[in-house]
Amino acid sequence: MASLTIRKLDDAVKTYLRLRSARNRRSVEEEVRVILRELIEGREEPLTPFSAPPAPSTAPTPQRTGALPEASVTLIIGGGIAAYKSLDLIRRLKERRVEVRCVLTKAAQQFVTPLAVSALSHERVYTDLFDPQSEFDAGHIRLARDCDLIVVAPATADLMAKMANGHADDLASAILLATNRKILLAPAMNPLMWNNAATRRNLAQLQRDGVVLIGPNSGEMAEAGEAGVGRMSEAIEIANAAERLLRPPVPRPLAGKRVLITAGPTHEPIDPVRYIANRSSGKQGFAIAAAAQAAGAEVILVSGPVDLDDPAGVTVKHVESARQMLEQVQTALPADIAIFAAAVADWRVANEGEQKLKKTEVGMPPLQLVENPDILATISKLTDKRPPLVIGFAAETEHLIDNAKTKLARKGCDWIVANDVSPATGVMGGDRNTVHLISRNGGEIAVDSWPVMTKEQVAIELVARIARSVTDKSLEPAS
Ligand code: C5P
Repeated sequence: MASLTIRKLDDAVKTYLRLRSARNRRSVEEEVRVILRELIEGREEPLTPFSAPPAPSTAPTPQRTGALPEASVTLIIGGGIAAYKSLDLIRRLKERRVEVRCVLTKAAQQFVTPLAVSALSHERVYTDLFDPQSEFDAGHIRLARDCDLIVVAPATADLMAKMANGHADDLASAILLATNRKILLAPAMNPLMWNNAATRRNLAQLQRDGVVLIGPNSGEMAEAGEAGVGRMSEAIEIANAAERLLRPPVPRPLAGKRVLITAGPTHEPIDPVRYIANRSSGKQGFAIAAAAQAAGAEVILVSGPVDLDDPAGVTVKHVESARQMLEQVQTALPADIAIFAAAVADWRVANEGEQKLKKTEVGMPPLQLVENPDILATISKLTDKRPPLVIGFAAETEHLIDNAKTKLARKGCDWIVANDVSPATGVMGGDRNTVHLISRNGGEIAVDSWPVMTKEQVAIELVARIARSVTDKSLEPAS
């Protein structure tokens, strides 16, 4: 099938295509596809008139809508036929919430106009090293450093040569010399230029300098009948490479692990309107759920009644009573790790009223209490579905460590996170916690006391310990 070279079209059509693609925020190539599709479907737009995109102004034009950008890129567009793909690249970076400030070399302006680039980036476009209209005091220094990443696309043989040899005789090369940011190059050139010994030398030097490369790909060249390595990577490939540099993948040490967590208080009904409760806020358990989720785990959180938003990416089962909590925990098994941070009521009312209890002449109706199931002990003592690592919490108001050690043995869990919940500590409902991690170390019981931390920090530290223990058994606190 014949290929279409935009450069060979007549000027009026080129101008129309550039303006229309800029207005519709598409690359020229994509716009041509849309026009052809519209023609086939019989709904093509009239060629004229239409309003042109805003002209580049001397001041930045903040037309951004939606969420705030999370990163910024200085995009240097070099002079090559592949420059048209950079229009699409701008769009794809902006989709990823990246702010894009563009610099066009003199040669680039032969292929794409500052007008189109400005319309797509919603920013003024920079072309001159000595720009009296620049709002930046030393424009090239600010463009070089007020960003998180510099992308050069297309990176021509000439731009690469300038970079490799430290030239700075125009805005693009001056930025590349003045930057202390990572640089991503998307080379684009004729295969003979790419394979030329000078380009190979320059490339080797740039790689030694720490420049990151994407492409070039192999395929047909713009020049009729030529093919080989030298085609610029597609916009989506460059945007993905930029994203990897801007947002390096976070370590996910609990990927593939299923973590079951309980949190919050339980409410034990007295009658349809009254219940027995405690002051647990659920904050610590929720923070652990969020930290485990961030570490890549699949998290199931069984929560009593709390006033907290469900953590993102976590499956939350909301329950009221201890018995409901146990039921949800059993349903959620099997799990690799179980963390029981809930403050489960030890007793419930045996003679729960079916109707609201009434005041009577003879005084208060007697409340008979019966023991609730101990979820931690029940799960720790399972023979078939016991999670390999079971962690309990011990909230104490006195003899913290001794009580926690006893609890570790009595409940049969692997670790206990002990914390002092005396009113003076402000732990119950507060944002900070002072904990001691108690674990079995051979025949001994080891106590690791952590400094006062926020509940989020405790959660992150606990998840880090868990991650170390599941990946490296020698680091496991419990033997
Ligand atoms: O016995 P105590 O309530 O102090 O033990 C605290 C630990 O036991 C916590 O991990 C808590 O979630 C768990 N627990 C439980 N079921 C109960 C009581 C406590 O899972 N009924």
